[in-house]
Amino acid sequence: MNPNDSIYDNLGGSEGVHRLVESFYAKVQIHPQLGPLFPADITPVMEKQYQFLSQFFGGPALYSELHGHPMMRARHMHVPITPERAEEWLDCMKEALEETGVEEPLRSFVLSRLAGPAHHFVNMPQE
Ligand code: HEM
Repeated sequence: MNPNDSIYDNLGGSEGVHRLVESFYAKVQIHPQLGPLFPADITPVMEKQYQFLSQFFGGPALYSELHGHPMMRARHMHVPITPERAEEWLDCMKEALEETGVEEPLRSFVLSRLAGPAHHFVNMPQE
């Protein structure tokens, strides 16, 4: 990990973020609690996640250019996100980081940057 570069560059730029998103949604889709929350056609979600994470990790601001202000918590309000689901989302991301060969300390750094938003998106108590 080069601390002078963005997370985006450390992950390998566009290709690295693509790899991560692909690995992540393969896990999300077969996850018993998370899978059913997503639309059957996952491709548009994957594209938006690629655009969002690129900008969130310090790369090109693709999401804002195409969709305006992210307002990510608001965009998740129709999804029932419990504290447990936020953890499960982060677990899938951890597995995807491992699977795509992202090494420590970058792996933990990426997860710690995503943990804040994931918990912030919680919009209903434990079921
Ligand atoms: C906390 C657990 C989370 C759950 C259960 C969850 C679930 C979902 C679901 C079901 C969708 C698809 C909504 C639809 O198409 O109707 C979605 C979209 C999306 N999620 Fe999440 N999400 C979570 C956390 C996050 C986090 C932490 C991020 C990024 C930091 C994120 C980024 C996105 C993006 C960029 C989209 C596409 C938004 C759009 O339609 O423009 N999500 N999420």
